[in-house]
Amino acid sequence: MSIPNDAQHPSPLAHAPAATRALLARLHEQSLAQESGFDLRAVPSEQFKAAVSDKFIALDEDKCQFVYQLLRASGARRIVEAGTSYGVSTIYLALAASENAAALGGQPLVVGTEHEEAKADQARAYWAESGTDAVKAIDLRVGDLRETLKTGLGDIDFLLLDIWTPMALPALKLVQPHLRPGAVIVADNPITSAKGYTELFDYVRAPGSGFSSINVPYSNGLEMIVYYPPNK
Ligand SMILES: C[S@@+](CC[C@H](N)C(=O)[O-])C[C@H]1O[C@@H](n2cnc3c(N)ncnc32)[C@H](O)[C@@H]1O
Repeated sequence: MSIPNDAQHPSPLAHAPAATRALLARLHEQSLAQESGFDLRAVPSEQFKAAVSDKFIALDEDKCQFVYQLLRASGARRIVEAGTSYGVSTIYLALAASENAAALGGQPLVVGTEHEEAKADQARAYWAESGTDAVKAIDLRVGDLRETLKTGLGDIDFLLLDIWTPMALPALKLVQPHLRPGAVIVADNPITSAKGYTELFDYVRAPGSGFSSINVPYSNGLEMIVYYPPNK
């Protein structure tokens, strides 16, 4: 699925500052240009980390817009992003959390996680030029998420799993105790990465897990999971 934004299909971010929209358009374009130069799935697993250490691999623009709408619909103000890279999707999360907080009260928080320091530095530089104060809600934690997500989360409304698949279940397990009833988890590429997600989906789909899950048919899929903690 690809949603071109035109007069009939306006972006849900049409109200965002022009500088923010221009930056997002530029970064999505850069990310796609990089990806057209190599096939992620053809990279041998032992070379994968090095091959992608300087790549955006940003969440597709149409998926970012859908996630933004989900966040606005659910009123999410406290969000965790597993996999921040150069911080493209993070801007959408920060916009939605800040707009929700302005409408509903509370403080917006987007906890980002990135283990490549150079990417984290560049993400901060992009946020500084984003033209929106919404990015002040971002708490970027640099390092392995298995450490950085251990503390300081509080209640969480939404988790974006845009991470190498072996990290998806560890991220979910760290955030799970903080998820409020009705919290939403979105995981990218459940179709193309089905094998890598085996453990995550076995966990989520286990009877009595409290999770329910559906694939939204974007390109390569987009898993939308809802959590209601099971009665003890
Ligand atoms: C698909 S990219 C994220 C793209 C980003 N969400 C966006 O849309 O711009 C995944 C990122 O996760 C980072 N990553 C992978 N394993 C990690 C780990 N264990 N802890 C923290 N970050 C990790 C990678 O360095 C990579 O930049």
